Formats: sequence, structure tokens, C-alpha cells
Amino acid sequence: MGILLFGASVVALFWVTRAIYHLYLHPLARYPGPTLWVISRIPYLICMNRGSLPYRIRQLHEQYGPVVRLGVDELSFNDSRAWKDIYTRKDFLRPPQWGARPPGITAHSLISAPADDHARFRKAMNPAFSEKATRDYESAVRSYMNKLLSLLGESLTKNPRGPEEDSKTVDLVEWANLTTFDIIGEIVWSKSYECLDAKRGHAFMSVLMHFQAFLVAASIKYYPWLDQILSEITPKSAFRVLDDIFKDSRHRFLSRLEMEHPAHPDLVGYLKDHQMAATNSEKLSGPEIEQNLLTVVVGGSETLTSAISGAFHQLLAHPAAMETLVSEVRSSFEKEADISAGALSKLPYLNAVIDETLRLCPPFPDALRRLVPPTGAIIAGRAVDPGTTVSVSCYSMFRSPKIFTEPDAFIPARWLDGRDGPGAKEAFHPFAVGPHNCLGQPLARMELRLFIALLLWRYDIRCPQAQEMPKWEDQKIYWTWEKTPLEVVISKASRVPV
Ligand code: HEM
Repeated sequence: MGILLFGASVVALFWVTRAIYHLYLHPLARYPGPTLWVISRIPYLICMNRGSLPYRIRQLHEQYGPVVRLGVDELSFNDSRAWKDIYTRKDFLRPPQWGARPPGITAHSLISAPADDHARFRKAMNPAFSEKATRDYESAVRSYMNKLLSLLGESLTKNPRGPEEDSKTVDLVEWANLTTFDIIGEIVWSKSYECLDAKRGHAFMSVLMHFQAFLVAASIKYYPWLDQILSEITPKSAFRVLDDIFKDSRHRFLSRLEMEHPAHPDLVGYLKDHQMAATNSEKLSGPEIEQNLLTVVVGGSETLTSAISGAFHQLLAHPAAMETLVSEVRSSFEKEADISAGALSKLPYLNAVIDETLRLCPPFPDALRRLVPPTGAIIAGRAVDPGTTVSVSCYSMFRSPKIFTEPDAFIPARWLDGRDGPGAKEAFHPFAVGPHNCLGQPLARMELRLFIALLLWRYDIRCPQAQEMPKWEDQKIYWTWEKTPLEVVISKASRVPV
């Protein structure tokens, strides 16, 4: 009994001393933050795994100011200068908990790679996502949009009062997901996932829809001893779904290599060109190529579904904005065939709606975490020690009342009348900046423009009667948005013949 008591006292003394050190003597002690989060990682992880971390980070910035200590060695910045100070430096990498390789995989991808490998990967992949390359994907993207529009048209329920009254209630999130997934398969390896044809998702998608599991994995990595134990006792069969995805991707990659004349340019084609022209030290290994192709499939599908879902959520909740957009789209073209990505890039209201959607519903609302390198850094005018995890959270930054007037309101016009001043553009980077910024920004913008404009050209879209629009912010955020179903009623466009 006496020994037990002594042991418990030693442990208690250790924790109290440690807590005092973290709160008052640690180099980050000068930054404000919630006491419990500073002395233990657990409340942060609970909040994250409950799907509310970005909401909480925003509240903490409102309470404590532009720099908040989120953990013993973690700072969040709500200051536009942090974009440049954190993200434009190539030696700021994702912390190990957030840049880990999948179990059993040794090759790196853009997400996990050290700086030199990352630069090598970007050099190989950037050409496939330039503005010019993206224009060459338009016909492939368009063919899946056309398929979507036709399938929706076929699904309309006949109304005895005439075809203009035909309608159907559909889950827009599901249709967006099927479409974006098919498109990314086509752009990566000239083989879609045939989701639209099957009218159901591929097994890969069900993994991506469960980001909660990724958060559990990241949480465990904060405790290396636990990670070690779990990796030793977890049966290999637990990773069968991941294994199946890797096998499926390898099969797609190898089949694509056998294709002599793909119907359009794709990422594998660009990588083949790179491998031919590159020196040995610039080349990617086979496993590196496979991991990077998969990274693009992940990055280029689910994000777009979030943005499409966000755009229609906001438009349906704001009928005046919907009317302005519908009118712009339908009055800018004589016929559907005239609609092109190039023409859509010049429609001011459409592009303002997209920016306003990315502001309120950024596909990555969570903290974009980076580790301060051994040289240390000055971030937003403050010296930060090596080894500190630093981040900007898009959700918090894009809704800052110091930068945006009526920060929670959906006002696309703010991007046209400049009411928020130059500060808005300095704060607003939904695709991030610097060497780790979004590889697929031009493609993402093209897909968003085409999806929104073509759908609104062909169909009227409204909320089901007697159904209240759910609030976007009622969704949980597991690194990205939970994406609850978005039930909408579609019917043929009333004003313009197709
Ligand atoms: C609206 C849609 C999208 C948004 C808002 C978006 C946003 C972002 C952001 C913020 C990052 C940085 C993440 C971080 O710092 O941890 C990122 C990275 C990335 N995105 Fe996107 N993305 C979108 C669509 C796409 C598409 C369509 C593709 C591919 C075709 C793509 C591919 C990638 C890749 C590969 C990375 C990792 C880049 C690297 O680490 O070098 N994204 N994206």
C-alpha cells in the first residue's frame, strides 16, 4: 500500500511539474490558449475526433486573438501574413502525425515526402496541371458532365401536366461524388471509376467518405508508443480495404501503360514524358509514381464534392443569389454547346459565387499544419522555435470579422465590389500557397464552373417543399466536411430551351 501511494505521488508530482513547465516556462508560454489543451493533447484530440476542431479554433481566436496556443508545441495563426511566412518555405513540412505513409507503404508521395523528394515529385507533376494542360482535359471533363446531365434527365418522374412539370428529388452530394470521381480517374489514368454508369460509388470512395478513420490514425500517432503497440497487434486483414485499393490502382496504372493512344492527355502520359526526359536523380520510382497518382485521386475528387455541395447549399439558402446566377448563366449563351470552360471563366457572378463558396465552405477547413524547421522562423512578426507545429485554419481565417464584413453571410458580390478591401485577397487562399499548395487548382476551378453552370443551364433546382435547408455549419468536420446528403428537386429549366 505504502509503495503504491509513493508511486502515485511520484507520478502526480511529475505531471504537476510538467504542467507548470508547459504553462509558465515553455518557450510558447507567452502565447495564450486554453490551459487544459496546453497541459494535455487529449482535449484537442477529443474535439478533433468529435468533428468540431475548426469551429473551436475559430472561437479560440475570437477569445484570445490572432495567435493561439493549441497544444504544448502548437500554434494557430489568424493573421494573413502567416500564409507567406509558413507556406512559402519549402523546409516547412507536414508534421509526422499528418504526413505519414499508409501502413505497409515505403514509397513517399507529395503528402509525406521530405523537401527534396517533394520538389522532385512536383517538378514531374506540375506540367500535368498547368493552365494549358487543364484546357486539354476539358472534353474529358465535359463528357462526364454530359453523362450526369443525361442521367438526371432520364430520372425525372413524368408529370401528367406535361414534361415541363417532370421532376425528381435527388441527393446532389451523391451525384457530385460519382461525377468528380469518374473525372479524376479519367484524368489520372484514362480510366474512370464508372460510378455514373453503375449509379453507385466505387469501393475507394467509401474509404474517402470516412475521414474520421484518418483522424483516429493521426490521433494515435501523437503517442508513438501506442502507435507502435497497435501496429504490432493489428492483424494485416484490418488493412484489406486499403490493400484492395492499392491493387486496383496498380492494375489501372499498368493497363494505362499498355495503352498506346489514349483518347486524351492524362497524368500518366505526362509522367511518362517526364521519365523519358529526366536525369536518373530526377526520375520517380514505380512505387513513388503509384503513391502520387493515388494522392491526386484523393485530392481531386472529395474536395470538389465538398465545394459543389457547399455551392448548392448556399445558393438554395439564398434564392436571390441563385436567381442572379441562373440569369447570368442562361443569358450568356445561346445554346448549351456554346458553354465552355473558357467562357465560364469570364462570368463575374459565377466566379464570385465560387469564391464565396470556397470562403464559407473551404474543402480544407481544418488547420493546414506544418512543422517549424531547425532554423526556427518568424511568423506574422513573432519568433517561433524549431519543432513547433504551426498552422492557418481556413475556416477561421476566411470568417474573420477583422477581414470580412458580415463574415458568416453568403455575399458573392463582395468579390465584385471590393467591399472588404485588399485585406480580403491577402487572407483568402483556399488552395493554400507555396510549394505545397494545391496541385489541381486550375482543374478544380474548371470543374466547379462547368458543374454549376451546366446544371443550372439545364435544370431548375429547388429545395423539396416543407423541407428546411440544413445549416451548412451544422455539419461535423473530420479534417474535411462530413457532407450530409443534399436533397434537391430538379426539373427542366423553365426559361431556356436546351
Ligand atoms: C475546390 C477544390 C480544391 C481545393 C479547395 C483544394 C485545396 C487544397 C489545399 C488547401 C491544399 C494544401 C493542403 C495542405 O497544405 O495540407 C491542397 C493540396 C493538394 N491538392 Fe488540392 N484542392 C482542391 C482540388 C484539387 C484537385 C482537383 C486536385 C487534383 C487534380 C488536387 C490535388 C492536390 C494535391 C496533389 C495536393 C498536395 C500538394 C502538395 O503537397 O504538394 N486538389 N489542395
